[in-house]
Amino acid sequence: MSILLVTGGAGFIGANFVHHVLASTDDTVIVLDKLTYAGNRASLADCPANRYEFVQGDICDRELVDQLVARADTVVHFAAESHNDNSLLDPEPFVTTNVLGTFALLEAVRKHDKRYHHVSTDEVYGDLALDDPGRFCETTTYAPSSPYSATKAASDHLVRAWARSFGVRATISNCSNNYGPRQHVEKFIPRQITNIIDGVRPKLYGRGHNVRDWIHVDDHNSAVLRILQAGRLGETYLIGADSEQDNRSVVEMLLTLMDQPADAYDLVPDRPGHDLRYAIDATKLRTELGWRPSYVDLEAGLAATIDWYRANEAWWRPQKAAAEARYAAQGK
Ligand code: NAD
Ligand code: DAU
Repeated sequence: MSILLVTGGAGFIGANFVHHVLASTDDTVIVLDKLTYAGNRASLADCPANRYEFVQGDICDRELVDQLVARADTVVHFAAESHNDNSLLDPEPFVTTNVLGTFALLEAVRKHDKRYHHVSTDEVYGDLALDDPGRFCETTTYAPSSPYSATKAASDHLVRAWARSFGVRATISNCSNNYGPRQHVEKFIPRQITNIIDGVRPKLYGRGHNVRDWIHVDDHNSAVLRILQAGRLGETYLIGADSEQDNRSVVEMLLTLMDQPADAYDLVPDRPGHDLRYAIDATKLRTELGWRPSYVDLEAGLAATIDWYRANEAWWRPQKAAAEARYAAQGK
């Protein structure tokens, strides 16, 4: 049994990770989360009190981080400002949380000699042409496009430097786009599902031809757990489930699954600097660590996600009006 400090555990992926750990190991979890607009305590309801503790706080608070890291065996770092559109409106919290927050954690794990896993994104590699036969792999050159992805890239570089120069026992994972339960309604898939529930037409940026490589959040988290168990220190692992789709096809699938005409969507102004395509080659994770995704059928995963949002309106309804007001102010 070990003690995991999970930062950002009230967010989408972090909360699903906490549930995954509590269900599949005998580990104890301490969550450190600032509860920004993206954090939701309701996502951690039902966690057993004898194996779970919640601390509301900022990863940039060096003293608090030092105390919590000292109590843990392993730190799994999910906390971040995570939404590209927000980073275009106001980059500052992205620099603060994603860069300085990671710095605070690294200094604490260095001091207390703790195992550290850094959760990052495929967006650090920039984007690919639609017809590029290549996919991102662990040796792809960093070329981030947005303030969000640039700050995630900066945090990855800090981790690599702390591992090499100070011997911090770290691993990094860079994952593609996640979907599943408990995702904030500002993100593409839950925004469209909750719009359709509300009788509002889905909104596609530009022409809807941008491609994302979708993975169910439980598959992302099973990969993170596998890296914690067997990953080689100092290494980076890309996580992806071979599920590229353009945005238009995803919206058409959602509309069809929700008994609406497949063309009942609107095109809205594009995101500035919008990355065209992401695609992950997860061969290293599959061959070295034997990981496999459980969700191999995107349509079935989306159907289960629709069911979750239909059954959990009380979870998402309080976020919806504010998220849509932010989009409306940008003509989206
Ligand atoms: P999210 O926005 O849903 O959750 C982020 C969580 O971090 C929230 O609970 C928020 O309250 C917390 N937080 C923010 N700033 C904090 C601070 N200063 N101190 C403490 N807590 C703070 O994000 P997510 O989609 O769950 O992403 C989690 C991680 O996974 C991020 O590091 C992100 O870069 C990475 N990632 C996300 C995806 C994806 O598709 N969503 C894909 C690959 C990697
Ligand atoms: O690739 C991993 C990244 O995936 C993570 O690092 C980020 O944290 C996560 O937010 C996600 O970034 P994206 O920018 O790809 O995700 P988002 O859900 O914002 O948008 C997905 C695609 O859908 C993107 O091409 C933009 C488009 N989109 C988005 C919204 C919200 C629309 O067409 N309409 C919309 O209303």
